[in-house]
Amino acid sequence: MIQIAPSILSANFADLARDIAAVERGGADLIHVDVMDGHFVPNITIGPVVVRAIHKVATRPLDVHLMIEDPDRYIDDFISAGAAMVSVHQEVLPHLHRTIAFIKGRGAKAGVVLNPSTPVSSLEEIANDVDFVLVMSVNPGFGGQAFIRDSVDKVRRVRDLLTRTRSTASIEIDGGIDATNAAEVVAAGASILVAGHAIFGSSDPEAATRALRDSTSSAAGTRR
Ligand code: DX5
Ligand code: ZN
Repeated sequence: MIQIAPSILSANFADLARDIAAVERGGADLIHVDVMDGHFVPNITIGPVVVRAIHKVATRPLDVHLMIEDPDRYIDDFISAGAAMVSVHQEVLPHLHRTIAFIKGRGAKAGVVLNPSTPVSSLEEIANDVDFVLVMSVNPGFGGQAFIRDSVDKVRRVRDLLTRTRSTASIEIDGGIDATNAAEVVAAGASILVAGHAIFGSSDPEAATRALRDSTSSAAGTRR
């Protein structure tokens, strides 16, 4: 099953309820929420207060992507605010195993995120503990960046590692995803597709959500 996760980073922040309703009508499975602190990434976005407000209007699970320097300090607040999925970056967590156990213990799905320069092999010891692996296909920080082509092969290598370690984790991909590359990342093994600009940068986010899913159908039918 392919899940479409529109990223509200490119939505209208003064009218989030309207934009979220549009992508939900278009068949969004998840709502992807990008949290940035101005330290781990150059940009600053939103915190638990806004996540709580979004949780009140969204009818799909919130997929909260933490691009912050000290996620352990805030995970509890984001889950209390309504995060159903929480992903944390490998690059900032020396005690990743403990962080993942904490997220799961609080009843949310736990994901580990790899930046473009972080090796697939870093998943080796955590693959069996996570619910999903998020492969960044841009350097995190901003919406609307160009898809890094090597990410297709990286997804394939993550897929191989998960198979080899008998992990049931799903693969999510985030950054520069649109209808021109969605089918190939699905064929490579991704099943959760994040898209910001391709959906909210369009004049019709509802139709763009549907179009993104439709663009994956050829790959999904032939996968494995
Ligand atoms: C990038 C964020 C992404 C971003 C994706 O730092 O993690 O979720 O919103 O946006 P697009 O699809 O525009 O690359
Ligand atoms: Zn994201």
